[in-house]
Parts: sequence; C-alpha cells; structure tokens
Amino acid sequence: MTANDIRSAYLAFFEKQGHTIIPSSSLVPEHDPTTLFTGSGMQPILPYLLGQPHPSGSRLTDSQKCFRSQDIEEVGDNRHTTFFEMLGNWSFGDYFKKEQIPWLFQFLVEDIGLDPSKLYVTCYAGNEEFDIPKDMEAAALWQTLFQEKNISHETADMGSEAEGYARGMKDGERIFFYDGKKNWWSRGGSEATTPVGDPGGPDTEVFYDFGGEHDTTWGAHCHPNCDCGRFMEIANSVFMAYKRTESGFEKLEKQNVDFGGGLERVVAAMNKNPDVFLIDLFDDPRQIIESQSGKTYGESKDVTHNFRIMLDHLRAAVFLIGDGVYPSNKDQGYFARRLVRRAVRAGHKLGIEKQVTAPIAAAFITTYSDAYPYLKETQSKIEDVLDGEEKKFRGALARGEKEFGKIEPEIKKTIEKGGEHVIDYIAKMSFDLYQTFGLPFEVFTDLLQKTFSEQAFDENELTRSYDTIFEEHQALSRQGADKKFKGGLADHSDMSVKYHTATHLLHAAVLELLSPDAFQKGSNITPERLRFDFAYDKKITDDEIKAIEDLVNAAIKKDYPVSFQMLSVEDARAKGAIGLFDASYDEKVKVYTIGDPDVSMKADVNHPTFSQEFCGGPHVEHTGVLGTFKITKEEAVSAGIRRIRAILE
Ligand code: ALA
Repeated sequence: MTANDIRSAYLAFFEKQGHTIIPSSSLVPEHDPTTLFTGSGMQPILPYLLGQPHPSGSRLTDSQKCFRSQDIEEVGDNRHTTFFEMLGNWSFGDYFKKEQIPWLFQFLVEDIGLDPSKLYVTCYAGNEEFDIPKDMEAAALWQTLFQEKNISHETADMGSEAEGYARGMKDGERIFFYDGKKNWWSRGGSEATTPVGDPGGPDTEVFYDFGGEHDTTWGAHCHPNCDCGRFMEIANSVFMAYKRTESGFEKLEKQNVDFGGGLERVVAAMNKNPDVFLIDLFDDPRQIIESQSGKTYGESKDVTHNFRIMLDHLRAAVFLIGDGVYPSNKDQGYFARRLVRRAVRAGHKLGIEKQVTAPIAAAFITTYSDAYPYLKETQSKIEDVLDGEEKKFRGALARGEKEFGKIEPEIKKTIEKGGEHVIDYIAKMSFDLYQTFGLPFEVFTDLLQKTFSEQAFDENELTRSYDTIFEEHQALSRQGADKKFKGGLADHSDMSVKYHTATHLLHAAVLELLSPDAFQKGSNITPERLRFDFAYDKKITDDEIKAIEDLVNAAIKKDYPVSFQMLSVEDARAKGAIGLFDASYDEKVKVYTIGDPDVSMKADVNHPTFSQEFCGGPHVEHTGVLGTFKITKEEAVSAGIRRIRAILE
C-alpha cells in the first residue's frame, strides 16, 4: 500500500463508522492569531472541542497538513520532519474510549495489516495533585484486544520517562502507564502546563516496535518512550474530557475524542523500516536529487543527512507556498525562506550547482495531486516562487564566497598569530559579511571549515561569539527604534496621543464600513498626522472616504470615555476586541475601550462602545478633545494593503 492508499483507507474506515470526511485546513491558521502555523490536527478543531457545534456533526475525520517550525534544526535523522500529515478522528460528546480504541486497533491490524505483536501501547498513570484518575478503562480495552489475538498483554507501571529507562520492560508486558509528561495531551503539554481555557485529557499512544539493539546512551534500558529508535509512536488517542482553569481542571460538558496519527510514520511501520524518508512519497524527489548530485541516498551519513534536509524542506516549502506563504523576512514567510535556503545549501554540499528546487517541487506535486488537487492548479506559481528564491540565494552564496576570498588572507594572518581573540575576530567578520552581503552564518562557517580544514574550529564557540555580536546589534537597533516609535508613536506629545486615539476610531470605522477583514497592517504617528495601513484590496471611493470621516467625527463628538483593562487573551477575544494577540494564552493583554468597557464594540454612535482594541497606549481620556478628523490621502502600498493619511484640525 502506498501512503496515498493508506490515507484513503483511513478516511474510508472512519467514514464507515459514521464520520464526515472534512478537508485539511490551511497551514496558516485562519482564526487563531496566537500561532503562525497549524501544527496538529486538532488546532483547527479547537472551537468544537470547546463546545461550539460543528456543521458536519459530532463525528469528523481528516488528514491535516501540519508544519512544525521548531523542528527545522532537528531534520536530518530518520524521523524528524517539519511538514507531515496527521490523520485525525474526532468525537464531540459522541463515542468515547470503548468505541475509539477497538476501531483504531481494527484499522491498524485488520485494514492495513500491521502485525499486532509489534504494537505496544501506553496509558495515563493519573495525577493526585489534580485529582485525575489512572486510565484503567483504556488499559482494559487494550488488554481485551491483544488477548483476542493471543498476544501477551500484561500491564506495567512506568511512572516518569526516567523511571522507564531505569526499569525497562519485562517479557509479556504490552501496556505501560506513564505520567502526564507522556500521557496527558494539551496544546501546552502536560497537566500543569495546559493553557488556561484550553481542553486536554489523558491519552493512550500506540508504538511500533522496529526491533534493533538498544542504544544505552539514551538510558540503561529500552521502553516504549525510549528515543533510541527501536520504538516509534504512530498514533495518539486523546480523551479530552477536561478544561484547564486558573486553579485546576473542570470537566468539559461533553467528553470528546481527539485522535492524531502520523501518516508518514504509519507508512514507515508498514514498510517495517523506521526511516520515514524511505516511504514512497519521497521516491521521485529522491531520484531527482540522486541524478543531479550523482550521489546515492544512504551512501554515507553526511550524504543522507543532506538528502533528508532537501526532501523535508522542499516538501514543506511546496505546501507552504501552496497555502500562500511566500519567502520573506517576516512571520510565516521567514520560515519559507529558511527552508528554501537550507535546502539549497544542503544541495550545494551534495554538489548540486544547477537550479533544482522547481523540478523537485514538480515531483512532489505529482505525488500529492490526487489528495491535494489545488497543488496542481498552483503548480506554476509554486515553481516560479521557488526558482526565484533559489536564484537569489545562489547569487548571495556566490557573492559571499567572493567576499570571503577577499578577507581570507586576513583571517589566515589572525589564525597564525593565534591568541584568545581569534574566535571573536572571525565572528565579527562573519557578522559583517552577513550585514553587507546577506551571507548566512552557516554558509560562512562552511567556507571557513573548507578553507582552513587543518584548523579545528569549535563551531559552538564560534556560534556563541557570533550570537553575542548579533544580540548587541539587535539591542542597539531596538533602542533606536524605541526612540522613534513608541508603539507606532514618534513621541508621547499631546498631539501624537490624540492621533493615536483617532487611529483606533479610524480602525473601528473601516472595519464597520469597508470590510470586517480590513484589519490594521501598520501605523505610524507623528505630531503632524496619522498614517494607517490596513488589509483591503480596492480603491476607496470619495463617498466611502466621506462616510469614514463622518463616522469618526460623530464618535469624537459623542465624547466617549477612553479606558483600559488588563484581560486574559481568552477574555479579550470573547469581548470581540480587535487585535493580533500573539501573546501566549496565560499572558494578560492591555485592551483599550472607547466607550463602555463592559459592552462589546460596534462602530456606531448609537451604541455604548465604539472600539475595543489590544494596545499598549497611551490615549486621551475623552474623544471630545480630538477636534475634526480629515482624511488627506488614500493610496495602495502593496497588493491588498491600502494606506490612509489623516489629520486632526
Ligand atoms: N492532538 C493530538 C496530537 O497532536 C492527537 O498528538
């Protein structure tokens, strides 16, 4: 069975059990500005796990595209990938453990034919502090299933991961109880770190045993949660019955199931080979790399490492670009850029000097086109973006190499002189090349190591010197920026503060009059004027300009009071306050209200509250002091972004 077959079989199996198949959401979360990427199957499902009814009912299944930017540096071993698909099934207050566990077993063993004697499972050991019991029910269900297959099915209490390493596994044991660090799932991790307001619960995880010798560098003995490579987690059923409160947990009104299984890992288990890069989804792209580099996957540790970086990063880049994330220096785009650059650099190490990212992308798109037909539709855009980014980076590499050549004699002299400042000096050179030519630090290090191969550089030490310079530089430019723009304000003069409040009125007005999506994209305020950028893709007509001015002036006339409150992100959102809220869940945010802080906003002067917005301040106390608001200019700044300049008279 191919990966595409397994995805289809999975969806068909759960459809047979009454689930509606839903399409994968975008890699860029649509209603969750707290995180840059969709990193798990449940993320787009969160509102429904918290009780909101889903239009497709109480049983859903999907295969969700996921991207975990935090794993970029980990890629290179046989299992880490930044992009993956998570197979999901959900019950919203519908079925629970006694249905879900046997279904999962049936799918893995009967439908796709995994050997049940290679499966090991873990269950939740309970938590006294939070008064949450050990999950005996899940363990008993597993025992019955293994017993029916005449497979040993004893349980064992492991406790913590460290205790697991100390104890190991005994013959006949198959079901292992671990603490919440391993068998409690929430977006924030274990019980104590579950974000307030988030759902969570005990989980039960299925591991596939690939066999092989235990590597004692990880710990004395092997056990299912050991990282030596023998076991790999392939499935996780979370029994989401709890919601975190300030002091502990309360039961959710409905008991939910949140299941996630790594598609690539299930396929690896089918192959009986733990290397996820050997599953069929990577076959064609891998062959392109082989033919372009003249090297073979697996021929040496280094070569394999670089193949994996190319395969993972370019697949992730294809899906990111397919979801509209283009390489840039900001937000999501920054990661798309890093992926492409790291992939090109890995190719460079394999000896690939020709443009290669677009053909590899084309191979991925063909492989995935049945499951994700939109990739085919955007193929030429994806290839163009990759090709352009690769060209740019290859140019930077070539320039950087030339510049490196120029300073090479100086570096040589410094090395020959020796002394304790050699590393500092080299780090400074590297930083200068980065600033002037955009030469990435890693590329500098490659060149350094290639040119001075007889000299053993301590890469960690070099990184530390480099980081120090980088941070000092950041701090300096931050100071400069702070001076210039205190929260978008050039200063805290009376006029700037007035313009700041006027900007909030304007923001509320454009959301009301132009589009509910016309969110602020930037603002710049001086004592002379305000400048406000927002998401909108049409020219604003004279009538609309007049309507916006009238609404803002009516709000000024109404002399609303202005005040602020410190709120949790959850409360601020519940109020419908405008803002990005890229603060974490447990942080408090400052929300400014123009009008009555206890009433949700509507930009209408017959309503008690005109605006509520996440903001650091400062603001005037009453809108009446603002004078008359007048728009002086309206223009486009970039695709989909308009700019308004306005004054107060
Ligand atoms: N939400 C669970 C996970 O991501 C299923 O593992």
